[in-house]
Amino acid sequence: MAKQAQAIRIHNYGGPEELKLEQTQIPDPQTDEVLVRVYAVGVNPVDWKITEGWMKDFWPVQFPYIPGRDIAGIIEEVGPGVTAFQKGQAVFGQSAKGGYTEYIPASINTLALKPDTLSFEEAAAIPVGATTAWQGLFDHGDLQPGQTVLVQGASGGVGLFAVQFAHWKGARVIATTSSSNVDFVRSLGADRVIDYTSEPVEQAVHDADLVFDTVGAPTLASSLKALKNGGTLVTIAGQPEEAQAKEKNARVERFSAQVSHDLLETFAKLIQEGKLKVELEATYPLAEAAQAHQRSKTGHGRGRIVLKVANQQ
Ligand SMILES: NC(=O)c1ccc[n+]([C@@H]2O[C@H](COP(=O)([O-])OP(=O)(O)OC[C@H]3O[C@@H](n4cnc5c(N)ncnc54)[C@H](OP(=O)(O)O)[C@@H]3O)[C@@H](O)[C@H]2O)c1
Repeated sequence: MAKQAQAIRIHNYGGPEELKLEQTQIPDPQTDEVLVRVYAVGVNPVDWKITEGWMKDFWPVQFPYIPGRDIAGIIEEVGPGVTAFQKGQAVFGQSAKGGYTEYIPASINTLALKPDTLSFEEAAAIPVGATTAWQGLFDHGDLQPGQTVLVQGASGGVGLFAVQFAHWKGARVIATTSSSNVDFVRSLGADRVIDYTSEPVEQAVHDADLVFDTVGAPTLASSLKALKNGGTLVTIAGQPEEAQAKEKNARVERFSAQVSHDLLETFAKLIQEGKLKVELEATYPLAEAAQAHQRSKTGHGRGRIVLKVANQQ
């Protein structure tokens, strides 16, 4: 008999009010998949952007649709051909099949063992945020030790990892955030923290080799002004004015993060060595996904919002 689980689903594009707690059928894990009993799932801005239909032209979904991709939980069952993971292991990573649920099949290529030192909620705050920061700084930004990098949006779910990775790499890190997060961002390893509510970024920085912009429209102009001539702007939330980028001879990179087993293992190792920390903005029960989306939509805060699906054993 098919197994049932509770899940948050939408039947139409729309605001948080479309998120409904319902019964759903659990799909069996396919080749190279495992079935994960979800304990926690991260809430990324992309989750409300998809459910509100912002991305429907290039990322259409089928209804009923279960949002969520960053999961942490325990393997309930392994699919055909899986030898790398076993039933009962605690894992974290990504599934494209909708994470706001009690059980989800996930590819073994986007999972890794959860570090013992982290709760499921903390582990669910890592996959998209840390992967985006790593790939933005190193694969697209080619950040080198000794270079100066400006991280815009340093207290967010992506930015907090970017500050830590850039510091770990040996770069000089300048970071922007609002007043209440200044001390927090400094604690992540930023050499200089700019409170964007009281100091214009473009007046404070002119010589960055790299700017990693996680904010978008409100900051892209100041990001270009902060670059040295010929520097690189990596943006994950919008495209700057072409003319402005030309004026600075800037290389502009925009990309979509790709979660992988190998990168998740790298993050787990850094966490076990005490070189990487995680911050939770808030935790909500699965049934309160709508409140979590509402909070994420403010675009302000410190760390990742997470939905708690089951209690830790
Ligand atoms: N392309 C990709 O692959 C990819 C991957 C992940 C995320 N994204 C996108 O990247 C964006 C950020 O994601 P996230 O998960 O980090 O979001 P988030 O957790 O909501 O964080 C947003 C952060 O931006 C800060 N902020 C807002 N206005 C600012 C300003 N004017 N100057 C400096 N900081 C400001 C906020 O800090 P304060 O509270 O201090 O204002 C907050 O910490 C979203 O649009 C998301 O969709 C893209």
